[in-house]
Amino acid sequence: MTQVIAAGRGYDVRSPLSTAPAIPTGALSAGPQPMLSALGGLLLRPWELSDAPVFFAAYQDPEIRHWHTRQPASEDQVREWFEQYRQAWAQETGASWAVTRGGGEVLGRIAMGGVNLDDGVAGCAYWVLPAARGAGVASRALTALSVWALGEAGFHRLHLDHSTRNHASCRVAVKCGFLLEGTKRSDAVHSDGRHDMHLHARIRGDD
Ligand SMILES: CC(C)(COP(=O)(O)OP(=O)(O)OC[C@H]1O[C@@H](n2cnc3c(N)ncnc32)[C@H](O)[C@@H]1OP(=O)(O)O)[C@@H](O)C(=O)NCCC(=O)NCCS
Repeated sequence: MTQVIAAGRGYDVRSPLSTAPAIPTGALSAGPQPMLSALGGLLLRPWELSDAPVFFAAYQDPEIRHWHTRQPASEDQVREWFEQYRQAWAQETGASWAVTRGGGEVLGRIAMGGVNLDDGVAGCAYWVLPAARGAGVASRALTALSVWALGEAGFHRLHLDHSTRNHASCRVAVKCGFLLEGTKRSDAVHSDGRHDMHLHARIRGDD
């Protein structure tokens, strides 16, 4: 059977795979994007249009602006992003969740991107609103995402990267079992220039 493989890997998109895909095409999008429960009453849920103001406000925070260089220009653009998130789930290329208190108040964002179903690999990213920081929101959300992705969803490896100067993000990664694999020198541009980036990953079966 011909499997569609990622064009980004440099192959023809209709080339046959010589190995079984880690996650068959359609396995994720067969159902709706799941809601994921995390410790302490957190619920990760898909974004709703009514979240646009708080999402836009998050990107006025200097820390989020510094570490996340792709920023929405308006609430209208946030709503366009929410539609892109919906399409990403349908196309199995990524997923973005609002990290909420029981489904209501938004505390942060966590996302999967760069999904490669053939290899069962995806990247993770997160931010937490300033008022909600320091209470374990990011680490509980990343743990919940990891448990689902490396379990029920069938991924084998999740990775994330952050600037070597972002100590909070490094601590979240390590606390959630994402081992430090190395430093990618001069790999990303932030407002103050190029940064070295830590690469972390958690693999199915890691503690
Ligand atoms: C990084 C960020 C997501 C952490 O969110 P959070 O909910 O406050 O993180 P947690 O409360 O889960 O903290 C997890 C660990 O990080 C540590 N930590 C939090 N902020 C820290 C800081 N500024 N410096 C060092 N460690 C820090 C906590 O102490 C905790 O470790 P501990 O349990 O051993 O004490 C949040 O600070 C943020 O949104 N920053 C701006 C955007 C950003 O950096 N995104 C990541 C880009 S890669």
